[in-house]
Amino acid sequence: MWLSPALLLLCLPGCLSLTGPSSVMGTMGGSLRVWCQYEKAYKGYNKYWCRGKYDTSCDIIVETKGEEKEERNGRVSIRDYADDFTFTVTMENLNANDAGSYWCKIQRVWILDALSYDPSVQVNVSVFPGLVVTFEVTDLGSPLGSAHFLLLVFLKLPLLLGMLGAVLWVSRPQRSSGRRQSQPHENQ
Ligand SMILES: *[C@@H]1O[C@H](CO)[C@@H](O)[C@H](O)[C@H]1NC(C)=O
Repeated sequence: MWLSPALLLLCLPGCLSLTGPSSVMGTMGGSLRVWCQYEKAYKGYNKYWCRGKYDTSCDIIVETKGEEKEERNGRVSIRDYADDFTFTVTMENLNANDAGSYWCKIQRVWILDALSYDPSVQVNVSVFPGLVVTFEVTDLGSPLGSAHFLLLVFLKLPLLLGMLGAVLWVSRPQRSSGRRQSQPHENQ
């Protein structure tokens, strides 16, 4: 019980200020999108996507210029949505070499003390060969992907069941109308 306040103290400088999916999947030739969410305080700061095993030594691939404008480097683009405190990274035309460790990071401009560092969150990218329904797989790690999953479960599935029910329903009145037609005969 005393651990959590201690952790909170350790966390104070940058912990939880940036969150993202721990892993995302894509298919060869497909694309994937990563959503990273930041604290209000980081609105207007440069956001960047960095590749490497460690966040301190990763190579910057794309970086925003503190604006809500897409920045692109080849097949990779980044866009900040300041109103949602979110930035997205899109990797297109994926190939096997794209798989690996990446980081969502925020460039802090006021680094005066040695202890402060750019907030970062690790995102492991995997690339699978095709033959998987790309729409489902590519966005699995993103809110959009889970939204689609929820859509699948809460909308499409009931819709499917509803259609199944409708089919059964359609075949039912036929039987009952048949019975009604036969009723006059029964009354006579
Ligand atoms: C990413 O993969 C590395 C190596 O497999 C692993 O050590 C690390 O914990 C993973 N990171 C996340 C955020 O899952």
